[in-house]
Amino acid sequence: LGIAVFASGNGSNFQAIADAVKEGRLDARIELLVCDRPKAKVVERAEAAGIPVFAFNPKEYASREAYEREILQQLQLRNVDLVVLAGYMRIITKVLVDAYWGRMINIHPSLLPSFPGLDAVGQALRHGVKVTGVTVHLVDGGLDSGPILAQRAIDVQPGDTEASITERIHQIEHRLYPEVIQGICDGSIHLEQAADHKPKDGI
Ligand code: GRF
Repeated sequence: LGIAVFASGNGSNFQAIADAVKEGRLDARIELLVCDRPKAKVVERAEAAGIPVFAFNPKEYASREAYEREILQQLQLRNVDLVVLAGYMRIITKVLVDAYWGRMINIHPSLLPSFPGLDAVGQALRHGVKVTGVTVHLVDGGLDSGPILAQRAIDVQPGDTEASITERIHQIEHRLYPEVIQGICDGSIHLEQAADHKPKDGI
């Protein structure tokens, strides 16, 4: 399976996926890193791992659709089968959702459908939840709203802070995301079945 990872910042999830491929735990090839911040740490990580990078500055394009059309060309050029969003901080438009519907996944640091959007860990803490976690889902045109593929829960302890929960969530993400991608590769996770849930209209 040829995958493209999209990321905007640190890229610890990108690293976990790249390491899983290297160590033979994940039977996929990372064909491309797509990044909307050319100076992000994740770009350095990809270069160090010898993975091709398409980094772009959104301000140089007339619209979201314009840069997504260019991304789509890159994906098609490299025969990318699966798009993996890993801390990509941009809304995906119809250009990519339509081309990759049922073949584009995201990881989010809450038990969706609770706490979509930014600062999911902070939102959960402010609500006083006793359980939170991580969700991997198909990407539709909404905000963290597509059909759910996998979830892991963690308990929130009395002394927990945003930093301590974020740390535990990251540890779980780094195991879960490569496992889910491997599940897609070996057919134990069925994307077509999940994709039967109707996507929302684009936002
Ligand atoms: C992760 O917590 C992920 O759930 C969210 O963004 C964060 C990215 O972290 N979508 P990193 O860049 O992979 O370190």
